[in-house]
Amino acid sequence: MRSAARMMPPSKRPRRLRQAQWIRTLVREHTLAAEDLIWPIFVTEGRGVRESIAALPGVSRLSIDQLVVDAKRAQALGIPAIAVFPVTAEALKDDLGTHATDPSGLACRAASALAEAVPALGLIGDIALDPYTSHGHDGVFRDGEVLNDETVGILAEMALVHARAGFNVVAPSDMMDGRVGATRAALDAAELERTLILSYAVKYASAFYGPFRSALGSARRQGSVDKRTYQMDPANAREALREVALDLEEGADLVMVKPGLPYLDVIRQVKDTWQVPTVAYQVSGEYAMLRAGADAGAFAWTDALMESLLAFKRAGADAIITYAALEVAEHLRSGYATTARA
Ligand code: PBG
Repeated sequence: MRSAARMMPPSKRPRRLRQAQWIRTLVREHTLAAEDLIWPIFVTEGRGVRESIAALPGVSRLSIDQLVVDAKRAQALGIPAIAVFPVTAEALKDDLGTHATDPSGLACRAASALAEAVPALGLIGDIALDPYTSHGHDGVFRDGEVLNDETVGILAEMALVHARAGFNVVAPSDMMDGRVGATRAALDAAELERTLILSYAVKYASAFYGPFRSALGSARRQGSVDKRTYQMDPANAREALREVALDLEEGADLVMVKPGLPYLDVIRQVKDTWQVPTVAYQVSGEYAMLRAGADAGAFAWTDALMESLLAFKRAGADAIITYAALEVAEHLRSGYATTARA
């Protein structure tokens, strides 16, 4: 005889709240919406170009005209902002990343076109030298070192040029010390006090950036640049709070934790400690990992994607940068959250 038959019935039954979709919906603590998403897009030279990226299935490099088309789609789906990442021709790269401050550069031309075509869409410009340096570092690299203060001066000028081109938000992603303060001062002195700063305040020296670097960089050095003298040690969390404190003091409006899924604890601590707008970046390697898992039949792509993005909301993120933003917004529009897996 099975012993279960003699058990006392439980007096508390949490399952009552899970018995049907209507009650699960009613008591759900967190939701994912198109309004939470930021879509990162790679822009490249040319016209009519939509070039797929082997390392990031489903993601393309777009020429400016195509970028405008997709930006309109994003806006129509309720996505509030996009982040633009330019693919720089090898011939324009040098040791100092000189092209980063050129107002006629690809990112700035993309911003101008977008500001005109989709004026209500938030435009985020990535501020770092790595797309422009021949060595792939985020700063000036001399005698085996990435030089902080020299880099910061260039970054502040780069931010200024990007803001003037039409970016509403500049997002320093380099992890140099003092760059948020220098950028705020440069913007304010140029009467660009409305330009927002989204600081990549907590950016780890992560293995998960591999596909991004191959999407942007040359085959020669893809994925291999050691950024541990400026990006954070994955072992540290207390240090993340200190980084955020400094960036807020220096004038950051929003702060980011990156990568996302392996650092949910850090997102939660940053949010609880500072109570400021906190952005999570589902980076290229996270996206690629989910795709590979789905392609191998380990799980359903859409379900795994939605679950991982919801995790960011649960951890306290206000906004999420994801390469899947458009497709997620489409799923949400067709009622994914309330009908799927009912
Ligand atoms: C560069 C930058 C990186 C990413 C965004 N901006 C890569 C790096 O630091 O090497 C990574 C994004 C991703 O992996 O999706 N400043």
